[in-house]
Amino acid sequence: MSREEKERAMADLQERARQCVKCDHLVRSRRNVVFGVGNIHTDIMFVGEAPGMDEDAQGEPFVGKAGQLLDKIITAMGLSRQQVFIGNVLKCRPDTPGQQYGNRKPTPPEMATCLPYLASQIEIIRPKVIIGLGGTALEGLFGKESQRGITRLRGNWLTYRDIPVMPTFHPSYLL
Ligand code: URA
Repeated sequence: MSREEKERAMADLQERARQCVKCDHLVRSRRNVVFGVGNIHTDIMFVGEAPGMDEDAQGEPFVGKAGQLLDKIITAMGLSRQQVFIGNVLKCRPDTPGQQYGNRKPTPPEMATCLPYLASQIEIIRPKVIIGLGGTALEGLFGKESQRGITRLRGNWLTYRDIPVMPTFHPSYLL
């Protein structure tokens, strides 16, 4: 794909995600669809779990406390947020009915429903490496059966559609 084709494909995908109504409950509770951010011509893609309250409010992944730590990790790699792509398995914040604060883990059906968006993002970007942030992100990518727990998975290469995936801890776990 040329740069222009990639940009067009990603813009089309973003528009589809913005209008997505596959999960009734999340459509009702979301303030923004958090599609992903960064450079789509990058070699490095970070994949997290789902937007939290801050991300839902701002429409951008990893802008809360975990995001500040992720920014530091990216800087320590000699890169900037603008040079990589950051996305999540879920594009909508998991709802927390009756609760104004806090976040919850996405359910397996929510992840399975949303995964095609992430799979298409990966297909368009075709990064040289994916960094899987935490057990839930890896469960989203590889399914629950493949899970051995992030502590065992971390540091060992996996492969998603021929792309090397490095599992690591989620920044909020480190916090
Ligand atoms: N945690 C995630 O997994 N993703 C975000 O975007 C924010 C926090």
